[in-house]
Amino acid sequence: MLGSFSASDFFPHIGWIIDMFKGLQGRRVKSVQDFDAFYEQMFDLHNKEKQEGSDDFVDLLLRFEKEETVVGNDKLTRNHIKAILMNILLGGIDTSAITMTWAMAELAKNPRVMNKVQSEIRSHIKNKERISFDDTDKLEYLKMVIKETWRLHPPTPLLLPREVMTEFKINGYTIPVKTRLFVNVWAIGRDPDTWKDPETFLPERFMDSNIDAKGQNFELLSFGSGRRICPGMYMGTTMVEFGLANLLYHFDWKLPEGMTVEDIDMEEAPGLTMSKKSELLLVPLKYLDH
Ligand code: HEM
Repeated sequence: MLGSFSASDFFPHIGWIIDMFKGLQGRRVKSVQDFDAFYEQMFDLHNKEKQEGSDDFVDLLLRFEKEETVVGNDKLTRNHIKAILMNILLGGIDTSAITMTWAMAELAKNPRVMNKVQSEIRSHIKNKERISFDDTDKLEYLKMVIKETWRLHPPTPLLLPREVMTEFKINGYTIPVKTRLFVNVWAIGRDPDTWKDPETFLPERFMDSNIDAKGQNFELLSFGSGRRICPGMYMGTTMVEFGLANLLYHFDWKLPEGMTVEDIDMEEAPGLTMSKKSELLLVPLKYLDH
């Protein structure tokens, strides 16, 4: 819905009529209602089934509401909580899941890299039932695999739209104030002037390089940059490192019977976020080392 074309964005006064005829308005209302019902259900569960000592971020927000905590100039209301949850759920889950899917697809396509990253994880983490957040710190090659995944498959390929505040010139074109601007980080990540063999999945390219995805190196802008940079950057990185480390430590991954690496389809689905178009099918085989 967020990525769909909306006439009211371009014609604020009359565009809503077109949106209404196209059914966009109705779909928006339905999606807000669905989200609302979901949040209400989540609040109910938290109120009813709260276990002694457990405290997650929904509990925390509900407590702020109960205690009438003032944030900025306003008391934190139920609507604020819903808005915060929407940011976290929409911004955080899809993007991290998309990264993990592309990483697993690239690893399945590149057995050399798969073996290398699994050896790193298994040599650092021995006899553990579950990998902890601290364990991922020392997994340097895994971090390179994730950066390389972000280079080729940035989950938000055009970042969030920006609006030009001051007129400027680029390549002979004058860009007027209020122009809507998209930054194509997908293209930046595959630019042959910046990256050698840009279409090749090669985590080693980050070995002796200072490039990271924290918004200061414009070659790799998976989390965006500037004031609109992803506020969940560290949480997102941690979730992806932690999720992949567990998947790769506990299982070996084989292709389904009769399938070869050439059959793994890397086509992208269109949208605000860029997921893999077809499902990734892999067979997990339990790795028994503990
Ligand atoms: C691998 C994980 C993630 C990736 C690749 C990612 C990527 C991005 C990108 C590219 C943007 C736009 C930045 C810009 O335009 O400059 C963004 C915005 C945002 N992200 Fe993330 N993100 C991830 C995880 C998370 C997590 C875990 C959260 C929250 C817990 C989160 C919350 C948000 C929010 C709220 C915004 C909008 C900020 C605004 O309105 O300006 N993201 N993210």
